[in-house]
Amino acid sequence: MIVIDGKKAAAELRQELKQEVSELKSKYNKVPGLTVILIGDLAPSQIYVRNKEKSATEVGLKSDVIRYPDTVEEKTVLEKIQELNSDETVSGILVQLPLPKHIDKQKVIEAIHPSKDVDGFHPMNVGNLSSGYESSVPCTPLGCYLLIKKIEPNLSGKKAVVVGRSNLNGKPMTQLLLKENCTVTITHSRTKDLKAECLEADIIVAAVGIPELVRGDWVKKDAIVIDVGINKTDKGIVGDVHFDEVSNNAKALTPVPGGVGPMTIACLLKNTIDCFKRSQI
Ligand code: GUN
Repeated sequence: MIVIDGKKAAAELRQELKQEVSELKSKYNKVPGLTVILIGDLAPSQIYVRNKEKSATEVGLKSDVIRYPDTVEEKTVLEKIQELNSDETVSGILVQLPLPKHIDKQKVIEAIHPSKDVDGFHPMNVGNLSSGYESSVPCTPLGCYLLIKKIEPNLSGKKAVVVGRSNLNGKPMTQLLLKENCTVTITHSRTKDLKAECLEADIIVAAVGIPELVRGDWVKKDAIVIDVGINKTDKGIVGDVHFDEVSNNAKALTPVPGGVGPMTIACLLKNTIDCFKRSQI
């Protein structure tokens, strides 16, 4: 069984991106820029944003963080986004979620110009992805996709089961697998027999937020299993997949932590560079 090393894959991707940034700098005499807006002081958000800033700087991007207290008015945030939309030095804009309740998340997402939407959350990018056109792709499913492709470059005709239907993970993951000619089943909390669905799968992506939901006897021999879950439990952080049980059946499996997580940030950097490149044409 292969334990998919997300840390190593992310480090390799960052190395490639660093090289690309250096080539873009020579060609255009400027570098891609990522601006993150962080509202409030939630600990996980602070940690994510610090990691994003560190990684962005490491690969040579221009990186900025704009911080607001959680009492900030929605209007202030929307005006800042407009300012960043017209700032040529900003290639990508990310507003860290979750937002305080008084701020309308969808309004904020739609305020970001689609060409600078490094999260791929804008309806224009969601639509383009589902139509098979060029678009920004949400970072976590993009990271999962790259890990799957490393194990199995030809996914055509494979049966994939996505557990979870969120806009952040399940839905975009489904689109990426469809583009690769997989036969995709999306499952969720109302699915009648989740185990039976999973047992059909050559590829399982679990992104549902239920600790160790996917058990050993849910997984076909030699399946590829990608675990997007990050669940706090009494025994520490665990994924949506029961690692020890599933490792007896799977061909390849991502650990938690050290699987999908590190790829997410590397993909954010990739999206920022891709937005920059598209803006130079
Ligand atoms: N909070 C947790 N994950 C994400 C993400 O992928 N993008 C944004 N904007 N906020 C998040």
